[in-house]
Amino acid sequence: METEFQRGFAGLVLDSIQADAESRLRAEIAFHEAQAAARRRHFAEHPEDLLVNDDAYLDHESWVRFAFDLLGEVSGKMVLDYGCGHGMASVVLARRRAEVVAFDLCGGYVAEAQQRAEANGVADRIAFVQAAGERLPFRAASFDRVWGHAVLHHLDLEPACNELVRVLKPGGWAVFCEPWGGNPLLRWARNHLHYPGKERSRDEKPLQAADLAVVRRHFREVQIVPQQFFGMLGRVWPGMPGRNLLHRWDRALLQRFPGLGRFSRYLVLSLRS
Ligand SMILES: C[S@@+](CC[C@H](N)C(=O)[O-])C[C@H]1O[C@@H](n2cnc3c(N)ncnc32)[C@H](O)[C@@H]1O
Repeated sequence: METEFQRGFAGLVLDSIQADAESRLRAEIAFHEAQAAARRRHFAEHPEDLLVNDDAYLDHESWVRFAFDLLGEVSGKMVLDYGCGHGMASVVLARRRAEVVAFDLCGGYVAEAQQRAEANGVADRIAFVQAAGERLPFRAASFDRVWGHAVLHHLDLEPACNELVRVLKPGGWAVFCEPWGGNPLLRWARNHLHYPGKERSRDEKPLQAADLAVVRRHFREVQIVPQQFFGMLGRVWPGMPGRNLLHRWDRALLQRFPGLGRFSRYLVLSLRS
């Protein structure tokens, strides 16, 4: 039987876990709300920048088109845009006739994503929700597919994976594109070099081997395709000549020598429960 001391101790541990989770969510919200506010001012003057060109979205990073293709046919499917941010992917998915639910922790981004859906004439195919990935407000087995870009590495992975498994339909799958933190040189560059778009929230961390172990524990099937080797130079050298050629070369290189994957920049994860 539990003693009074044990009950009190359990309460203390729980409180500190909750405080930790709350502090993480608050820091994320503060960071992203500040960015969303600046963006809102920009779109008030330039509403044309809300328009989405599918190809521009799919090619804005070398892995996006490849990862999007892993979703397969989405027409008529329930697709969750997980941590939707600015809501670009939601528009592309809706144009492919998916039934989209888009959620994000940051209310300002959810508002921007909704504004973008309206500007692109697809608002009737997308439902928007403000929520945390660690606690999703959806029924079990709601989604055929989940799309997430640069988001899992902001989350507490254990509860997030529990929720993902819960909301995916049997036979459904999730595709995530996430920064990889296993390359020590890249880790050094991320910590010490300045390059465009480098702003980071307090707790986000490129995925490590321990994070992949958490993901593997929750999903029956996990496929991981590393992305960018030499091509990551483009991150510190915008407008680098021959960039697309380098990405193609990287793809062949990483396929031929899978061991190099641990020195890559990004991972595309395909997850089945
Ligand atoms: C780097 S942005 C990526 C946004 C978008 N997926 C994209 O590709 O542009 C990370 C996103 O994760 C969201 N986020 C951070 N923590 C979250 C959480 N616990 N639950 C849901 N979303 C979260 C942020 O608000 C932000 O929109």
